[in-house]
Amino acid sequence: MNKLGRTPIVDLLRSALAGSSVNVAGWVRTRRDAREFSFLEINDGSCLANLQVVVAEHCAGYEHIREASTGSAVEIVGVLIESPGKGQRVELQASALRIVGGCPEDYPLQKKRHSDEFLREIGHLRSRTNKYGALFRIRSRLSFAVHEFFQRRGFHYIHTPIITGADCEGAGEMFRVTTLSGTEGGRQFGADDFSGDFFGKPAHLTVSGQLAVETFCLALSKVYTFGPTFRSENSNTSRHASEFWMIEPEIAFADLEDDMLLAESFVRHLLEFLQTDCREDLALFTQFVDPELADRLRNVLEAEFARVSYTEAIEILASSRHTFEFEPIWGRDLQSEHERYLTEQHFKGPVFVYDWPKEIKAFYMRQNADGKTVAAMDLLVPKIGELIGGSQREERHDYLLERINALGFKAADYWWYLDTRRFGSAPHAGFGLGFERLLMFATGISNIRDVIPFPRSPRNLEF
Ligand code: 4AD
Ligand code: MG
Repeated sequence: MNKLGRTPIVDLLRSALAGSSVNVAGWVRTRRDAREFSFLEINDGSCLANLQVVVAEHCAGYEHIREASTGSAVEIVGVLIESPGKGQRVELQASALRIVGGCPEDYPLQKKRHSDEFLREIGHLRSRTNKYGALFRIRSRLSFAVHEFFQRRGFHYIHTPIITGADCEGAGEMFRVTTLSGTEGGRQFGADDFSGDFFGKPAHLTVSGQLAVETFCLALSKVYTFGPTFRSENSNTSRHASEFWMIEPEIAFADLEDDMLLAESFVRHLLEFLQTDCREDLALFTQFVDPELADRLRNVLEAEFARVSYTEAIEILASSRHTFEFEPIWGRDLQSEHERYLTEQHFKGPVFVYDWPKEIKAFYMRQNADGKTVAAMDLLVPKIGELIGGSQREERHDYLLERINALGFKAADYWWYLDTRRFGSAPHAGFGLGFERLLMFATGISNIRDVIPFPRSPRNLEF
């Protein structure tokens, strides 16, 4: 029982004994009326299953039973009995019913099943459905598993800033943060004099906590950050969100090989945790969303993660009989059709693609001896494509400075980052895992908007 004397339904269904008196509170999923009693199905979000409640004439508050409509909030006191019916171990024989909040007929979740598109329009209510309730419980449990994985291994959790003065990826896909209105100070919004703005310089929402977490890595050795990141890329795909959560570990005295080993054990840990901890919720996704989900998860856990260099990957793609919309050419980024071919058709499981052309990767990645590639890796998984992007970082001051200059960035903007390469620099590596992509992989849900509570994408900012 909790402080209010109520028992979560999950505890009642799993462990409470028949004969115990309990007090539950939740929302009515359905009501079926017979002549002298009614059945209520109550859900409190503590688990997927509902509690069946029998409310008979002798129950206090029975006169209000018609107000216990689908969607209404109720509180019930009663005695658990062994259920004579099928489908549940116990049910509740109510002795008192209280309507906490009624729910009129225009409640949009009257039916059992609704399309994802419709539910996206009612993001404030969709977590009351079985599917989204299950999804957001999984999201919560996997967040816990992320922390558990790192904390058990001695990593320190660093809260990297949300508002930043640096563009980590150098890709310029950033949202500006300003307190200026359009023409304040006589200057047009977008002018390059920021003296009148809040920070006196350009400020943006972060695209990645990496540069900040790297500085802590070179002090605490094993660190990670897990927080929201923001990208203004105008790609309206099912795998891109404008606001998403990223997990970014960073390890000192480590190279790309160590980075891939860490990434593999991390992904395995999360999927193993999911299968044991979220069994009931997970089964819903295999049953109603993606029939191949259970097999796919099992295969991933049984398979070795394959490894292939970018150069070999291009050769595999170029020599395959598959027709791609975009020709695979060395020096170009992999398209999602290429990623999917490699992981689904060729390797039939997760694959690390490493050593990428330096021209298409970020400035901070460590240059390889061939002068053409950098020590970068992407982890590709079936159905999703890129789940992780990471690299060994350029720890050599002069190489880093040369790259910053070659790309036309201002070295002065990166003074603190460059400093860490002057004062006790050490090889280090890290990666970023997109949490929503992981959830898509874990549940078979195919649109990123359906795995985050309130999705943000171009032209979409409701709630
Ligand atoms: O490959 P990315 O851009 O790498 C970085 O940001 C590095 N700074 C990470 C690091 O080394 N610490 O992004 C990492 C991952 C991608 O593999 C993808 O899973 C996810 O973040 N991601 C997105 N997820 C949803 N919506 C978007 N717009 C995403 N962009 C990247
Ligand atoms: Mg990437």
